[in-house]
Amino acid sequence: MKGSSTNAEDYLKCINEYMDLQGYAALKDIALILGTVRQTVLDEIKILMDRGLVQRKEKGKYELTETGMKEAFKFLRKHRVAEILLWKGLGMKWSELDDQAMGIEHGMTEEIIEKVCKNFGCIKCPHGNYVPDKNGNVKESKDIKVSEFNSSRKIKVSRVIFESPDILKFMENNGLYPGSNLIIVDEEHIKVAPDMESIKVPDNFFRAVRFTSIEDNQ
Ligand code: FE2
Ligand code: FE2
Repeated sequence: MKGSSTNAEDYLKCINEYMDLQGYAALKDIALILGTVRQTVLDEIKILMDRGLVQRKEKGKYELTETGMKEAFKFLRKHRVAEILLWKGLGMKWSELDDQAMGIEHGMTEEIIEKVCKNFGCIKCPHGNYVPDKNGNVKESKDIKVSEFNSSRKIKVSRVIFESPDILKFMENNGLYPGSNLIIVDEEHIKVAPDMESIKVPDNFFRAVRFTSIEDNQ
């Protein structure tokens, strides 16, 4: 939810997502996602570095420390369960869950989380990411980047690691969710079925989504 008040947890989540996407987070990346200016991000990053949660990887590039990662996953537990609540409980649109969850996730107590999990199940968020436990431990997903497939052109969506609105809207508009099959046409195009026309994917699509082979049913 761009422009709304952000706090340390939002920064940790944002840096975590960029680390998954490209291995680090730059100030301008964080500013873009959190709807703020570079200087505000720098001020917050300094506070997080003092707290031992963030470290500088190289000039202008930041990453989470081990402690920062644990804290990020504790928060991602709240975030991902909030997404499940909005989706299964309130029937909100899949492409808007990540953004809407930002309005309520900070208030997700462990009591609420347990109730949501009991009612709807909470192994994975609606975008396919495992829900961490309350200590910040998270199961590792057995999926790969599209570039890691040797020859297979028919693959299955496993999860969206970078839940940006343009990627999520594109996927929703084309009926692509975790578990959906697709065919890679080239570096910029996919088909959702062999007899369908090829579709141009948005920038970052192949970096934002992880896949499994079609034979792999995990
Ligand atoms: Fe999300
Ligand atoms: Fe999600």
